[in-house]
Amino acid sequence: MVTKIIDGKQIAEAIRQQLKKEVAELSTQHIIPGLGVILVGDDPASRSYVTAKEKACGEMGIYSRDHRLSSDTTEEELIELVNSLNIDPAIHGILVQLPLPAHIDEKKVLETIVPEKDVDGFSPINVGRMVLGQKTFLPCTPHGVLKLLEYSNILTEGKHVVIVGRSNIVGKPLANMLIQKSSSGNATVTVCHSRTRDIGAMTRQADIVIAAVGSPALITKDMVKEGAVVIDVGVNRVTDPSRKRGFRLCGDVDFDSLVGHVSHLTPVPGGVGPLTITMLLFNTIESAKAAGE
Ligand code: GUN
Repeated sequence: MVTKIIDGKQIAEAIRQQLKKEVAELSTQHIIPGLGVILVGDDPASRSYVTAKEKACGEMGIYSRDHRLSSDTTEEELIELVNSLNIDPAIHGILVQLPLPAHIDEKKVLETIVPEKDVDGFSPINVGRMVLGQKTFLPCTPHGVLKLLEYSNILTEGKHVVIVGRSNIVGKPLANMLIQKSSSGNATVTVCHSRTRDIGAMTRQADIVIAAVGSPALITKDMVKEGAVVIDVGVNRVTDPSRKRGFRLCGDVDFDSLVGHVSHLTPVPGGVGPLTITMLLFNTIESAKAAGE
């Protein structure tokens, strides 16, 4: 079987070209979308995500304000900063990079972000709206996965989608989005996690497998039905002394073994990643539009 490798960069670029037009349109109304980004501590993966987000904002004409705080920042200081962004008219979206250091209560911080600026879609109000199928900011990575499927002409209606991973950032919202009564939903969804007895027995039944668990090359050929679609959300750093930086990025899927076996496959990097950032830009622009209404 010929496997189509889904090019996330190309799809992201097509969406970004569209978004650029919206930013230009907003500028005629003297509105510049603004994103406040907060990073606490110096986790290297988080640092590189945040840098990529800021670069993408710059390329799009979105104003990005960067707050890089030391790992000993207190919960009170962080909440004070979020509150100041909540009332700042130049800021339409607030992103607090997760995970936060252990001494900070993530739930408290996310609840502080006003729902109108919660461009990650992580606040309880926006999660509730999403589950109810109401208009809201959709979490960026699951939204990006839906866009990858849509641009690759892969329909979800009536399909059995097996998601591996139940995180608040990907697995849980994605399962909800896929069961919505909508053109990007209407799927039958199974969610596997660390207590699932036999993950392979589940994934083998899937028309679409989505891996979002953070375990390098967990999904192997024997776990996937021939001709299935496989979307790899995992971004794992694997030690590799042959690389200058000492590691390489590896997804949750054993990519090489699936080429020739499945119909569609996303690479890591260059699959879901570019879409995550694109959907963040999308949400920030939507927020700026709503603020200008
Ligand atoms: N950490 C990993 N993914 C994300 C994301 O989409 N948003 C935030 N805020 N933190 C993350």
